[in-house]
Amino acid sequence: MSFREDGHRAVDWAADYLERVGDLPVLAQVKPGDIRAKLPASPPEEAEPFAAVLRDLDEILLPGVTHWQHPRFFAYFAASAAEPGILAEMLAATLNSVGFLWRTAPASTELELLVCNWVAQLIGLPDGWHGHIEDTASTSTLAALIAARHTTGRNVVVCSEHAHSAADKAARMLGMELRKMPSDDAFRMRVDELRLEDVAAVVATVGTTSTASVDPVPAIAERCAASGTWLHVDAAYAGSAMVCPELRWAFEGVERADSLVVNAHKWMFTPMDCSLLWTSRSAEFRNAFSLVPEFLRTSDEGEVNLSEYGPVLGRRFRSLKLWAVLRCYGAEGLRARIRESVRLAELFEGWVRDEPGWELCAQRHFSLVCFRREGSDEENEAILERVNASGEIFISHTRLNGRYVLRLAIGNDRTTEYDVRRAWDALRDAG
Ligand SMILES: Cc1ncc(COP(=O)(O)O)c(C=O)c1O
Repeated sequence: MSFREDGHRAVDWAADYLERVGDLPVLAQVKPGDIRAKLPASPPEEAEPFAAVLRDLDEILLPGVTHWQHPRFFAYFAASAAEPGILAEMLAATLNSVGFLWRTAPASTELELLVCNWVAQLIGLPDGWHGHIEDTASTSTLAALIAARHTTGRNVVVCSEHAHSAADKAARMLGMELRKMPSDDAFRMRVDELRLEDVAAVVATVGTTSTASVDPVPAIAERCAASGTWLHVDAAYAGSAMVCPELRWAFEGVERADSLVVNAHKWMFTPMDCSLLWTSRSAEFRNAFSLVPEFLRTSDEGEVNLSEYGPVLGRRFRSLKLWAVLRCYGAEGLRARIRESVRLAELFEGWVRDEPGWELCAQRHFSLVCFRREGSDEENEAILERVNASGEIFISHTRLNGRYVLRLAIGNDRTTEYDVRRAWDALRDAG
């Protein structure tokens, strides 16, 4: 079988999958080890046709897939991949650019800088920030903290108790001291007791993981400026929503940040992985990472080597998929999709509010609703387990003020009002 024929089959497989994904159970209905048990323990001695890979994908692997592309995936934050992005990902693998120096991947390097600038315009960032792409927000935050420590010569990180664990993990990996600030009634970082004299970086969150609350970035930026502290803003989820002017209030003060992360693989419909990391201090950022051994020295004038802006050397052609999504959806397409997610979340929120026996647990800003059945934590946990086991929907949970809380996060391109209605029906039945 030729590459072309296998390729047609693979694209047919992808198209069929996307058509039927809504009929599959969202959460994989397997137990740990089930998939492994069906796979050979050793690699094949003889070459096999690609058709055998496709067959096993269907027969063995698919039952073990939790379907992030499913319209009723409401857990965590959505990470759905748009079709232009899927195709571009295949083309990026075809080119297999390895972008450590400009000369090893001129198109990849320049397109990456361009798409970061495009998105910066779309979400209202100031001119002149350097943006590049890391794999995930975890790496972006790690990189930002490395730059902060290098620039300030300090070793303390401050974030709120609602910051993502990526900040804790980065601080731990770097051997930095982490100080967690308490949050207020609306789950925002409290700034009244912020003392930053010895602090390298504050990680402020716009759209926290538990509730999508928004830290008071203007006040935090003020304190950071006064004490020479690096301000890193984690807008991994909510940053994409800034394409909509009516949601831009959440970015107030972000123009004063030293670095910012937004995951295009979350709410910008770009396939995993595509985390956009900008800095307003590109020279300091580069100083923190630039290390050019003899064998990587070149005579290219004025080139940008993106490996000098982050932890890794070899970099994938990630910008291609984001470029494809931005072009094939357009700014208006992105805005329409974000607005639809927010509208559906608002609808769901209204149903919960109006239903006796259920309560909302946090103010909704974007497309995440935090709610619970009035009753014990155990009852709510049982509801979650029941609906997830049904394969009908997939939701996740958090803990707020000591109570177990259900989260329904909308952001999948394929989710419709019908899907949200089915989620509510499933939850009420389970309750
Ligand atoms: C606010 C926030 N920051 C960081 C992350 C970590 O993202 P990643 O999986 O890209 O490292 C998440 C994940 O949901 C998040 O919600």
